[in-house]
Amino acid sequence: MENIDVKDVFKQLYGKEVEAVYKAPARINLIGEHIDYNGGLVFPSTIGIYTKCYFSKRDDKEIHLCSLNKKKAVTRNLDDLSKNGNSWENYPIGAVYTLARNGFKIEQGFNMLFTSEIPMGSGLSSSAAILDLTIYTLKSEYNFDIDNKLVSLIAWETENKYCGLSCGIMDQAIIALGKKNHAMLLDCYKYKYDYFPFDLGDYSLLVLKTNKPRTLTDSKYNERVRECDLALDKLKEKFRHANNLCEYKMEEMDEIKKVLNDDLLYRRVLHVVSENKRVSDFKDALLKNDLKLVGKLLNESHFSLKDNYEVTGEHLDTITKLARENKGCLGARMTGAGFGGCAIAIVKKDSIEEFKKTVISGYSKALGITCDIFECEIPDGVSKE
Ligand code: GLA
Repeated sequence: MENIDVKDVFKQLYGKEVEAVYKAPARINLIGEHIDYNGGLVFPSTIGIYTKCYFSKRDDKEIHLCSLNKKKAVTRNLDDLSKNGNSWENYPIGAVYTLARNGFKIEQGFNMLFTSEIPMGSGLSSSAAILDLTIYTLKSEYNFDIDNKLVSLIAWETENKYCGLSCGIMDQAIIALGKKNHAMLLDCYKYKYDYFPFDLGDYSLLVLKTNKPRTLTDSKYNERVRECDLALDKLKEKFRHANNLCEYKMEEMDEIKKVLNDDLLYRRVLHVVSENKRVSDFKDALLKNDLKLVGKLLNESHFSLKDNYEVTGEHLDTITKLARENKGCLGARMTGAGFGGCAIAIVKKDSIEEFKKTVISGYSKALGITCDIFECEIPDGVSKE
């Protein structure tokens, strides 16, 4: 796509010059997986690959949307913001709908052309990126008084109520509020956050892309959310009150096992409670610069997601196993929702070339497809270009 002049394409498509360009980064999550919707602590950061929105206003009430990646264009009207099956346009149209529900009604139509380096279904949160991006673009262009936290909340409401994924706030929050060279420790119950400088010295964080599209993600994801809700209801009734699963403690797990009397629900809760503790331990290890422990916690998180939460699958298990077999690798785990998508690994800088070679060849030998491995900078969140 680098060779295409997107502004020319915009002009040809809409007969108007681009008035503004906005961009939103992708994200990874260092640790704290599947616990944002359980009121837990998560530790995401942005990564420097982007979705961009080229924008101009119109003189009528039409919304013209085009995705260069999908090579699809649609025309809608501000008076009809209904959902269209599972089409990609539900993200921008849903954002306009949710803005209106929150008192930010748009009366004048617009053109938007999207380009994206974030592959859909790759686990790097292309959906939160397009939602935050659309809302940020519209609030900027129509002068709505919306700060970046509210951008993320409106995006979250769109994903949950309009698009139908019962997700937590992590992705929308980090893409709206991310800070250059920092990871974000986010308390998802209170929606409070701190930034941590992220510098691993002699080590680098690598993204390992399995190239296995995340099929079934939405239905399996919503199933996990329901299982957690069910476990919480049972525990509140038969054990002790808590506002969310992350308020239970590891010391209570024996009792919780008895009370739940259900192996599947017990394993789900065990993942949630142990993962929440791992996030605190991870933060302490980072502060002490104990990178060995950081790596160990990444591995433990992956095994818990594999055995107790059951959201990894062959591709993620294979790529992280191959990663760990390298001498220079301190730890590896899946990142995001799972069921395919991406993993992360911490690897000694002078071993990166060797790491890439062995993981890429081992992976294609084992699964017959290639994987991609790349290093990423951590940029600011959504912004005007
Ligand atoms: C997806 C969701 C997030 C979070 C992760 C798993 O990315 O959008 O809210 O639940 O999965 O940690």
